[in-house]
Amino acid sequence: MSDAEPSSEGCRHVRVLELFAGIGGMRLALSYAGLDVEAVAVEVNQQALRVYAHNFGHECLVNRDLCGLSAKWFEKQACRIWTMSPPCQPYTRQGNVRDAEDPRAKPLLHIISVLREVANPPEAIVLENVRNFENSESFARLVEVLELRGYHWRSFLLSPRQFGFPNARQRFYMVAKLRPWSSRIPAMPAVLRQSCDGEDVDKVGVFRPWQCLGPCSKAHAFSSTAAEPDTWQAASDLVARAEEARDLCPSCERSAPVPDLGRTGSEEMASSVGSRDCRFGRLTAVSDFLDSQDNGACWLVPEAIMQKESARCFDVLQGGCCHSLCFTKAYGRYIDGTGSVYALPERIAEPGPDMAGTMKDFFGILR
Ligand SMILES: C[S@@+](CC[C@H](N)C(=O)[O-])C[C@H]1O[C@@H](n2cnc3c(N)ncnc32)[C@H](O)[C@@H]1O
Repeated sequence: MSDAEPSSEGCRHVRVLELFAGIGGMRLALSYAGLDVEAVAVEVNQQALRVYAHNFGHECLVNRDLCGLSAKWFEKQACRIWTMSPPCQPYTRQGNVRDAEDPRAKPLLHIISVLREVANPPEAIVLENVRNFENSESFARLVEVLELRGYHWRSFLLSPRQFGFPNARQRFYMVAKLRPWSSRIPAMPAVLRQSCDGEDVDKVGVFRPWQCLGPCSKAHAFSSTAAEPDTWQAASDLVARAEEARDLCPSCERSAPVPDLGRTGSEEMASSVGSRDCRFGRLTAVSDFLDSQDNGACWLVPEAIMQKESARCFDVLQGGCCHSLCFTKAYGRYIDGTGSVYALPERIAEPGPDMAGTMKDFFGILR
């Protein structure tokens, strides 16, 4: 996007079609990358759009099912970038993996057919999904259209930890551009889905990890010259240095292991409990992301859960910790593999008289 118009603050202005917009994560990511984003956000869920409006304002919100939007409508938006986080349920290995047969894959398949049809396809496309998407029929159909329309694409398995954020959430990312990639960015291997056994992800062109971006605090510094080979190299070096750091977590003196990018999120979570091998001393602390005003007792882990034997498996964090596990839909209902809990600096509630069990002492502290 090197010829995007600079705004008054020096950021490059770009009109983005944010498909499956949710609460606006993609838009936020693009602004972190240094773009001045004007988004058209399409989202079927009203509640998500309310949060989106709270975050970014009410302009250009489209509360529609994507499947009902024509190729003509897409063209009319005149957006140079399309972003999309399609529903992951058709592809997640925790589900039935019905792929293109799953009704929730329909809107993505619709976008693929729109992409085939539009006279002026976007200059760039960014897609995010779960790991295993790269093995799907839906992905194969997307790649077929991208190649037909002349896109150059790259895909990656990445976790926020690699960018300085204290959270493990491995995801699949794909970036497609009409312009060729810089020669410093590794070439994509051929897509060999037929011979892929689902484990050897490199065969489907997934780099693990692709170390082009620096830690988050540097994102703005890099953004103005992101296409320069020297900058890529500098960013890559920074990440390599962060990888070398082997400090224990400065707060709890233990942590999750370095993410093994060849495993699933839940396997990664399972192996992190109790590990003392930590490399996260240089990352941002969890407290940087907490609202200091919000000390509400309503978020405390309830007595009924604290009494369960499995409560001893909680991944407990303090504010100074530089790691956390991925939050899932099951958060609060199950204990294993559903994300970390936070230990308040002071107890804010006492356990009831009937409460027993080893976690009694922690009641009123964990939330
Ligand atoms: C994985 S989430 C996207 C999360 C988003 N990246 C964010 O930052 O919040 C998928 C979103 O797609 C929306 N969605 C699913 N089917 C849709 C459809 N047919 N049309 C429009 N939005 C849809 C869901 O409501 C959900 O918010």
